[in-house]
Amino acid sequence: MAEVKTVAVIGAGIMGRGIAHAAALAGCRTILEDLLPNALRKAETEIRANLDKAVELGKVSAGDAEAAFSRIEFAGSIDEAARQADLVIEAVPEEMESKIEIFTLLDKICKPTTILASNTSSLSVTEIASVTYRAKRCVGMHFFNPVHKMKLLEVVRALETDDETLAAAVDLGKRMGKEVVVVREAPGFITSRMNAMIGNEAFYMLQEGIATAEDIDKAMKLGLNHPMGPFELVDLVGLDTRLHILEYLHKTLGEKFRPCPLLAQYVKAGRLGRKSGRGVFEYPDAAKTAN
Ligand SMILES: NC(=O)c1ccc[n+]([C@@H]2O[C@H](COP(=O)([O-])OP(=O)(O)OC[C@H]3O[C@@H](n4cnc5c(N)ncnc54)[C@H](O)[C@@H]3O)[C@@H](O)[C@H]2O)c1
Repeated sequence: MAEVKTVAVIGAGIMGRGIAHAAALAGCRTILEDLLPNALRKAETEIRANLDKAVELGKVSAGDAEAAFSRIEFAGSIDEAARQADLVIEAVPEEMESKIEIFTLLDKICKPTTILASNTSSLSVTEIASVTYRAKRCVGMHFFNPVHKMKLLEVVRALETDDETLAAAVDLGKRMGKEVVVVREAPGFITSRMNAMIGNEAFYMLQEGIATAEDIDKAMKLGLNHPMGPFELVDLVGLDTRLHILEYLHKTLGEKFRPCPLLAQYVKAGRLGRKSGRGVFEYPDAAKTAN
């Protein structure tokens, strides 16, 4: 198995910027790309701030943080980002059409040996990989938010993923300091399937007026020992992302995943969570810096 040395990350949103941070700290040359110049600028500022914070907390030495930051390049085009990569991680929104468009393009641009990974939270990596001529070199790498802090990486083995590709994804995850679980592909893998169910039920409770959002969160934290309440968490994840996941799980796994109408209504209203300044709760400071 050849070690991954250069990583390209496509999409510099919540997840892409975190993946770039972790890949650079793991010693990889890292190229981050986004359609929106503003998203790249925001990613640069945020990665810098998170590295500085890690130094302040004594988690990373100042030298390592500086070296990591200098390993990150911000690319203006997918061509520039992906051409030299040993592994590309796609982190664009959770829509099959977008993933397919990116993988079709990447398959043409990248070296034949390059591994194509998707950070999808729920979609079929087999279906995404089917548009390429290298399905055996496609894999799911499902990171968690915030990537630089969360310990888990779910590596998703699609139908055609070969052993070498799987081993390279697991190895990269470990070098990034993650605990890795390997999952055979199924909608929502382990974590998104479970989490979507809990989060959707919380919206139904809110819709039915059973309790306030604050109290539902409080009950889950203090009664069930969840580190975050379901609403605090969905605001972090993004309500649009959660809705996309639920729609897919509903389509593939059935009625029990039907998205709560209140969640859909919040998304229609532009209440997407922290990133838009308002989700279930309000984040006035985030709104000022939103893309
Ligand atoms: N948000 C989470 O907590 C979380 C956790 C795990 C996995 N995921 C998955 O990660 C992926 C990204 O989610 P996110 O929350 O980072 O989304 P996001 O909306 O924060 O960021 C997506 C970024 O992709 C960019 N983009 C869109 N189309 C593009 C293209 N064609 N080329 C380049 N850039 C493009 C957008 O400009 C945006 O900056 C999704 O598949 C999501 O399901 C999200």
